[in-house]
Amino acid sequence: MNTILESILSRRSVRSFQEKQISKEDLDIILKAAVLAPNGMKQEPWHFTAIQNPEVLKELDKKVVGEGKSFFYHAPTLIMVSIEDGNGFEKEDTACALTNMMQAAHALGLGSVWCNRINHNPELGRQLTEYGVPEGYKVTGTLAVGYTKGDYPSRPVKEGTITIIG
Ligand SMILES: Cc1cc2nc3c(=O)[nH]c(=O)nc-3n(C[C@H](O)[C@H](O)[C@H](O)COP(=O)(O)O)c2cc1C
Repeated sequence: MNTILESILSRRSVRSFQEKQISKEDLDIILKAAVLAPNGMKQEPWHFTAIQNPEVLKELDKKVVGEGKSFFYHAPTLIMVSIEDGNGFEKEDTACALTNMMQAAHALGLGSVWCNRINHNPELGRQLTEYGVPEGYKVTGTLAVGYTKGDYPSRPVKEGTITIIG
């Protein structure tokens, strides 16, 4: 099978990560996949913030979910997607960018998972300029990325979710 198809059909969300950091080259490719994702009316209303500093990651976790917890499963890299506040394609563009990044990570042999949390608190999402989120932008989604710990076999297709009218 075509390797792109093979990759799309085998990606899984990963929730257990090794401590080992991902390389700068891999991070660059994942971010390039994000900025080249389809987006409504080609407005490119987004910004991507990759955090790899363990102290900063711990501080962010504390701010979002409290001491000792991790909303991104202690992954070594967290990528925050932020969108210009009020953009009408906020949800769609976020999904396209995150999907591209998840596929890129998987193709590079890395694991990832979309982590909803900051986006449930728009006020907090607007107040993360100290973490590289531009003024006037709001965090709309985050992606945990790292080397997978454990196995993540492909999942079966749920029955009844496809109709083909030939
Ligand atoms: C919009 C969206 C939000 C998600 N939020 C979370 C989340 O907060 N935490 C988490 O562990 N997984 C999250 N996921 C991952 C889903 O749980 C996962 O994609 C789903 O269970 C299907 O499994 P798979 O990705 O392994 O195929 C999210 C996925 C999407 C598309």
